[in-house]
Amino acid sequence: MTEAIRGIDLHVRSGEIFGVIGHSGAGKSTLLRCVNLLERPTSGSVVVGGTELTRLSTRQLQQHRRRIGIIFQHFNLLSTATVHDNVAFPLRLARQPRSEIRARVDELLGLVGLEGYGDRYPSQLSGGQKQRVGIARALANKPDVLLCDEATSALDPQTTDSILSLLLDINEKLGLTIMLITHEMHVIRSICDRVAVIDQGEIVEMGDVIDVFLHPRAQVTQDFVEQSTHASSGFPSEEGIRRGRLLRVRFKGKQTYEPVLFEAVKETGAVFSILQGTVSRMKRIPYGQLLVDVRGSDGDVERIVARLHAEGIEAEVLA
Ligand SMILES: Nc1ncnc2c1ncn2[C@@H]1O[C@H](COP(=O)(O)OP(=O)(O)OP(=O)(O)O)[C@@H](O)[C@H]1O
Ligand SMILES: [Mg+2]
Repeated sequence: MTEAIRGIDLHVRSGEIFGVIGHSGAGKSTLLRCVNLLERPTSGSVVVGGTELTRLSTRQLQQHRRRIGIIFQHFNLLSTATVHDNVAFPLRLARQPRSEIRARVDELLGLVGLEGYGDRYPSQLSGGQKQRVGIARALANKPDVLLCDEATSALDPQTTDSILSLLLDINEKLGLTIMLITHEMHVIRSICDRVAVIDQGEIVEMGDVIDVFLHPRAQVTQDFVEQSTHASSGFPSEEGIRRGRLLRVRFKGKQTYEPVLFEAVKETGAVFSILQGTVSRMKRIPYGQLLVDVRGSDGDVERIVARLHAEGIEAEVLA
């Protein structure tokens, strides 16, 4: 028997977007499939919305699964059915009155930006549009939770972003709790509130995305962060540039746009130049990281760091 995941202790908060990141084979899909018991853990319990799914009868479980929508990397649409029928499928399974189904499907297609596409077949849609159908279908029975298994991995970067913003939109509009798995830090950064990093079947790190991103502890996490910021931790290769002391400064939130560093240096006799800088956004929080070459006395550098700390900004002198 393969032990795919072990010792998982995870609580996803109501209304949040929770991301799980890990390399191929880490156990992400297995973990996600445990949430709706498509995969039954050999021990432990799964509780969704206060109900312990692991204690339910098959019939009760079927009912409760309707509270949990799921979308997949390869969309899993019925190719012989129209867009309308794909979305209507779970409504028919739930024995919704025929008269209400059409209106509900139209409403769902509107929500995902596919008004007027009801009569098309999946083969006539782009990847992004197929995933929108997948999302509409997953939302048909008004679930409280949406599970996303690599929902954007088959899409190009631009389409990925449009699907991510749709997910963020539904999360906010419907108060839907979303748990997604991915191997891309970009996905985590764009829409997740919290993240768990999974490696070889275990959670090795978990926290607010911004904290994990700025202070990755586990090696896998550091690799993911590096991959997504490109060489942000790599120093310029020409040794000659590093004449002064190397200072790393990290900003988040409003600080990112304030000239605090400039002010701090100005108070001393030092001069500085920025060797490298990134300003980006995590979900809606701006953050930035600067690598600064400071030329001045040791005392100057100490005072600059102290001033930045006093402003609540992280700054450290690198070796
Ligand atoms: N049905 C199964 N039978 C046997 N082993 C399995 C089964 N499903 C998954 N595994 C194994 O469990 C481990 C975790 O697989 P899982 O599919 O959860 O990984 P993943 O993180 O989703 O990977 P990927 O990013 O490639 O989708 C792997 O070693 C895999 O080979
Ligand atoms: Mg998988």
